[in-house]
Amino acid sequence: MIPRDRLRIAVQKSGRLGDPSRDLLTRCGLRFRSSRDKLFCFGENMAVDLLLVRDDDIPGLIADGVCDLGVVGRNVMQEASLAAGGEASIQELRALGFGGCRLSIAIPQDQEWNGPQQLASQRIATTYPHQLGDWLRRNDVDAQIVTLSGSVEIAPKLGTADLICDLVSSGATLVANQLREAVVIMQSEAVLAGAAETPLDERGDLMELLLRRLDGVLNVRESRLLLLQAPRAALDTIVDLLPGQPIPTITTIEGQPEAISLQCVCSGNVSWQELEAMKRAGAQGMLVLPVEKMLA
Ligand code: PRP
Ligand code: ZN
Repeated sequence: MIPRDRLRIAVQKSGRLGDPSRDLLTRCGLRFRSSRDKLFCFGENMAVDLLLVRDDDIPGLIADGVCDLGVVGRNVMQEASLAAGGEASIQELRALGFGGCRLSIAIPQDQEWNGPQQLASQRIATTYPHQLGDWLRRNDVDAQIVTLSGSVEIAPKLGTADLICDLVSSGATLVANQLREAVVIMQSEAVLAGAAETPLDERGDLMELLLRRLDGVLNVRESRLLLLQAPRAALDTIVDLLPGQPIPTITTIEGQPEAISLQCVCSGNVSWQELEAMKRAGAQGMLVLPVEKMLA
């Protein structure tokens, strides 16, 4: 590995992961100045720079030591690892909780789906040939994989393939191309990837600092502040219903000896069903608020 004194993080230049990736790093306290060609962003307040690239190039950039970290879809990592024969030169450091999508096989809207066997001798266009190949083998299907570098969704219309295997997020791309999702091959989300071995120079310390801040941001992102009022007699029932068994703070309400006010930080989102159960137990005036920062 070439020694470097600045940490370099690869993020998607454009596409679904680009903005949320930069937003997350900003929330970890990093500030960047964009260069004129917008491919490199210099870290202004820490020795951490960004490289803006195509997402499919990110695993290779980390494996080659050009970048130390990268924000990339888990499916892209998996494809790179299968392409390298399962060799683990990079690793997933954190799941980031955004960019959720699935790698799916999609067929023309007017076709029926009767299971994997109908794919026999069909041409399937994809940018993920290794994952598709792996899935076809596991399902014992002999189909033809047409590897493309992009615009997979128009292949059936162009006649270069019969169906496709591509990422689906909202499903809008499929609908716009008269395709429908037939079967999910894998679920994916954005992850922070890094080299299998942590660098031993200053970058290792920077990486550790960044991971600690990232954990702070990720933990808080899941947290919700719950506020409610309830009859004192219902307190035990309501405390049992609090998601994740947090430790609540209970205060009395001036002039209402039979009522209490409760506040607690829940470690996950509070669902409508949970709120409704608490309401049935006697809670009222329930508020669920996002938590921005937490210092324990
Ligand atoms: C994926 C996929 C589709 C789109 C699907 O592209 O190739 O084009 O997202 O999203 P939708 O279901 O919300 O319409 P990606 O963001 O990975 O960009 P890339 O193919 O250029 O890498
Ligand atoms: Zn891509």
